[in-house]
Amino acid sequence: MPGAGIRGEARARWLGTGLLGLFLLPVSLSLEVSVGKATTISAVNGTEILLPCTFSSCFGFENLRFWWSYNSSDTFKILIEGTVKNEKSDPKVKSKDNDRITLEGSTKEKVNNISILLKDLEFSDTGKYTCHVKNPKENYLQHQATIFLHVVEKLEEVDNTVTLIILAVVGGVVGLLIFILLLKKFITFILKKAQEKKKECLVSSSGNDNTENGLPGSKAGEKPPTKV
Ligand SMILES: *[C@@H]1O[C@H](CO)[C@@H](O)[C@H](O)[C@H]1NC(C)=O
Ligand SMILES: *[C@@H]1O[C@H](CO)[C@@H](O)[C@H](O)[C@H]1NC(C)=O
Ligand SMILES: *[C@@H]1O[C@H](CO)[C@@H](O)[C@H](O)[C@H]1NC(C)=O
Repeated sequence: MPGAGIRGEARARWLGTGLLGLFLLPVSLSLEVSVGKATTISAVNGTEILLPCTFSSCFGFENLRFWWSYNSSDTFKILIEGTVKNEKSDPKVKSKDNDRITLEGSTKEKVNNISILLKDLEFSDTGKYTCHVKNPKENYLQHQATIFLHVVEKLEEVDNTVTLIILAVVGGVVGLLIFILLLKKFITFILKKAQEKKKECLVSSSGNDNTENGLPGSKAGEKPPTKV
């Protein structure tokens, strides 16, 4: 049977994909903690800033523990900690380092949001903020994500110099390419025209011009004027 080999091969491939899936599954479905795309945030002193953190677990959770820690060169402390009973409840704060911190967000929605809001920012708030989540339902698996906060006196203007230089270079290169293409087209055009002209000349010399030495009227001049 010619089809048997192909079918067997297809089954083997299916099995391979399935096994690969089994290996990938636990990794992609377990507890995940994220602080979003920006891992460094700058904020002005005296203002407030939201430090984002979300988590997800496809196994679900029960009596999940979460906490935010702060770490700078000379300090380490737990800023806020709490629990979430299950997917249908909001987080409960158990303790807080100070009143400038509040827990924002909800764990009832699709995304479990345990972001914190930091008010009246001081320069000494600069440091590493880590959001930790521990899930008893997943063998007390603990995951964390870190965000770096920089408290500044003034937000720097976004420095566009590099972008401008890149744009200028890219623009220059593109311009040059277009110029080269146009130049090529122009040269081809000129060459074509020149060739056409040459052809025309060849055609005309063989078809219309019947002067023998190429100088029109010279034949007539050769004849000595006849005088009577
Ligand atoms: C931020 O710090 C600067 C320098 O210490 C100070 O002059 C300014 O008043 C502060 N701003 C706020 C809103 O506290
Ligand atoms: C705090 O950060 C420092 C420097 O990054 C690191 O060496 C230290 O282990 C951290 N401390 C804790 C408790 O995570
Ligand atoms: C989390 O909650 C805060 C406060 O409600 C909100 O500003 C933020 O956008 C939320 N983050 C996500 C990813 O939903």
